[in-house]
Order: sequence, then C-alpha cells, then structure tokens
Amino acid sequence: MKKKIITGGTIATATDVFKADILIEGEKIVQIGVNLDALEAEVIDATGKYVFPGGIDPHTHLDMPFNNTVTDDDWESGTVAAAFGGTTTILDFCLTAGETKLSDAVEKWHKKAEGKAVIDYGFHLMISDLNEETEKELPLLLEQEGITSVKVFMAYAKEFQATDRTLFKAFKIGKETGAIVMVHCENGSVIDELVEEAIAKGNTAPIYHALTRPPEVEGEATKRAIELAHVAGATLYVVHVTCKEAVDEIIKAREKGYNVYGETCPPYLTLDQTLLAKPGFEGAKYVWSPPLRPKSHQEPLWNALKAKQLQTIGSDQCSFNFNGKKQLGLNDFSKIPNGGPFIEDRFSVLYSEGVSKGRISINDFVDMISTSAAKIFGLFPQKGTIAVGSDADIVIFDPNIKRTISAETHHMNVDYNAFEGLEVTGEPVSVLLRGEFIVKDKQFVGALGGGKYIKRQLGKGALSTLEAVSN
Ligand code: URP
Ligand code: ZN
Ligand code: ZN
Ligand code: ZN
Repeated sequence: MKKKIITGGTIATATDVFKADILIEGEKIVQIGVNLDALEAEVIDATGKYVFPGGIDPHTHLDMPFNNTVTDDDWESGTVAAAFGGTTTILDFCLTAGETKLSDAVEKWHKKAEGKAVIDYGFHLMISDLNEETEKELPLLLEQEGITSVKVFMAYAKEFQATDRTLFKAFKIGKETGAIVMVHCENGSVIDELVEEAIAKGNTAPIYHALTRPPEVEGEATKRAIELAHVAGATLYVVHVTCKEAVDEIIKAREKGYNVYGETCPPYLTLDQTLLAKPGFEGAKYVWSPPLRPKSHQEPLWNALKAKQLQTIGSDQCSFNFNGKKQLGLNDFSKIPNGGPFIEDRFSVLYSEGVSKGRISINDFVDMISTSAAKIFGLFPQKGTIAVGSDADIVIFDPNIKRTISAETHHMNVDYNAFEGLEVTGEPVSVLLRGEFIVKDKQFVGALGGGKYIKRQLGKGALSTLEAVSN
C-alpha cells in the first residue's frame, strides 16, 4: 500500500502539541513518532508548519431550497471551498419538508452530493413535522443511514418552523434512539409579528432584519428548547448561538447537569450588527438568522467557548449572491434570503481571531474546529484527531502567512465575502483526505466525487454527557 510520511511539523490535537512524524498507509495513520523510518514513503515536509486534524464543519446548507430560492453553493463549489479552508468533513442539513417519506429526502441529498463532494460528509435530518408515519420511519432511517442527529426549527414560521408538539416528539425520539437533537432557537411566531409591524410602518431596509429578531427571542427560545429537551430526556445541541441571552441559558442548564451543547459561528465572534445598516442595500449581504448582534455580545461568546460551555464552530454556510438572489428583498427585508458564505473561512478566522490574538489556546482551537464535532456527532475517533488508526485527514497549516480575505480570491460560488478586508494570520497550505492530497501547496488536486458518505454510530457522541445527566 502507498505510504506517506509527514515530517518536521508540529502536531496539534485537542489535548497535545508535539513535534513528531506521521506515517500514513492507504487511508489511515499507522504510526506517530520521532524519526520514523521513511523508507519507500513519499516525504511531505511540514517544517515550520502546524499539522492539524482535518476540520469538521457540523453546519452547512449546500444546494438547499430556502426562502423561495436555493443556496448558491452546491456540493462541488461548497466542498472545494471547504477543502481550501482546511475542512475535510461536513455535516449538511437534509431537508425533509414536503416529502411524504423521509427516506426520499435522504435519497435526494445523496444524489446532490454524489459525484460532486470532494470531502467526506454526513447528513443531519431536518424535521418540520412528525406524523404517525414519519414518527415510525425516523428511528429506522437513522439506524439504516448512520445518521445520529436531527434538526428542528423554532423559527421560519412560513417554511420550517415546527410546533412545540413536533419539537417535543423529536426530543422523545432523540431520547429513544440516542440521536442528538439540534435546534434553531428563535421564537418564530413573535418574529413574524415584529416583521409585519415593521413592514407596515415602512421599515423595509436590511437593518430591520436584525431589529425584528432581538436577542431576547433567541434567549427565550433557547430556554424553552432546553427545558423541553430535559423533560424528554434528550440531548440538545443549540445551533448558531449568537448572544449573551442564549449563552446564559446554556450555561445555567449545563451547570444543572442538563445535556446541552452549543455551537457558534465565526461571524458572531467577529462582525456586528452595524453592517446591516450599510448604505444602499449592502446590508443584505449580512442578513442571516439569528442576526448579527451589537459588539457587546462577542465577549460572552468567546468566554463561553474558552470555558467549553460552547463546544463547536459551525460555518452555517448558506450562500446567496448579492447581485442575484439577495436582491429578492430589495424593497422588503423579510424577502432577503437568509444566509451567508462562510464554509471557506471558518478555520482561518477562528485561528487568526482566536489563537493568534491570544483568546484561545491551540488545543482549544483544534477541539472547536474538529474534535468536539467528531465526538458529539459520532465520528470520533475515525475523524477529529491525529491518532494511529484514524483517517489520515490532515491540514498542514502555515501559522505565519498573512493574507486578506476577499471575494476576489475565495473559491465559493458567491460574489461577496462577509469577511472582505479582514486580515488573517495563518493559512492551510496542504490538505489530505484519507491519505490523499486534495489541496497541495494551495492548489486543488482533489477529485469530484472523491468525498465519501460517512455512516455514524447512534448514541456514541452523546454517551459521555448522557452518563453525566443527573435526573
Ligand atoms: O440564515 C441562516 N442561518 N440560514 C441558514 C438556515 C439556518 O437557520 O441555519
Ligand atoms: Zn438556523
Ligand atoms: Zn444553518
Ligand atoms: Zn429534572
């Protein structure tokens, strides 16, 4: 079998930082040690670089119908951009709304990905409604497809929002199967009322997207999800946490021993609400949900990450071109498709703003960008770390390169970058997926369809905290 050896680099995992060689045989890491015998192996020189486990992005929406349109990055452009950004596995949301059988939705998602994905992937199942049939089908489908996570929306009243009854049923199924229940926590009904009120007053500009979704409605929904999950005995994962109100609820629940995980996303850590007030219609570039918050919410998010009260960083990749689909809301902010392009810069922005600026340690960074998601979603130890027996998903990262993020140089299929002009320190130089280069010296060398669907094991991710639950 073909061998490769990565030499001279500094390996960083969620727990350690050390200098050693990594021997790869086929798709796996077979040996880690000092001065390994490189005979017959292709030598990859990583001198002066960090060697990280491949990034795992637990939150993407590729080629997804949403807000009367469809996201602009598909499984080709989205995963190529992810690869450049140091991500080797994504977990994408499979939309089931409108399907009679959940399995039809999963088949559709497989077809979207097959022949296109250049990195490995799995699916979370999005549940808008549970009836007698789908309730029966869901546990079997999870088992059969190796899906360990479902997602329920408390917002988007016109599209995805589930009733509390459906949310609670999902929690019950989560408890029975060991699947983790991911929830978008915003009070969709209250938001709809605030949106109608704003539009009636003629407040149609993008900034009203943020002003009609105040942090209180995120905090309130977060608390409701936490209590309902607890009553059902399910493990809850709060997606895209943006504000102090929601963080406080998560911390309180975790301190009580509840099984709650939280994710945040790079824009909430680095950008703020004033961007939605940019002149002209430019604020539409920054319309996603929950919205960007005033700057004062960033510190509580960083602190919660550092304290491991929030565990993961998702991109929430959900891209729409500015000179395209975003224009749907030119005269009415509520018609601006919600979402932004983040899959490519998730890794670099967290490294630069987090590690380079001294906010988090290098181990915390690896944990947030890869290891925690692997553990929570049942991918560990196949993915999420550098260890003997793990997939050789590896990022060779130059911590000294400085570059400026720009739509001119990114690989996503959209005409703007929300981080445009942000100077970052550090960049993935080469990326391996299961032992093969997909990015080599900043050139894409992967293959369309080279990414593999990864079946996950139910109950595995949630195990450690399930054991910690008191009542
Ligand atoms: O605005 C966003 N976040 N779009 C994607 C859908 C979601 O809520 O995650
Ligand atoms: Zn959401
Ligand atoms: Zn999302
Ligand atoms: Zn209790």
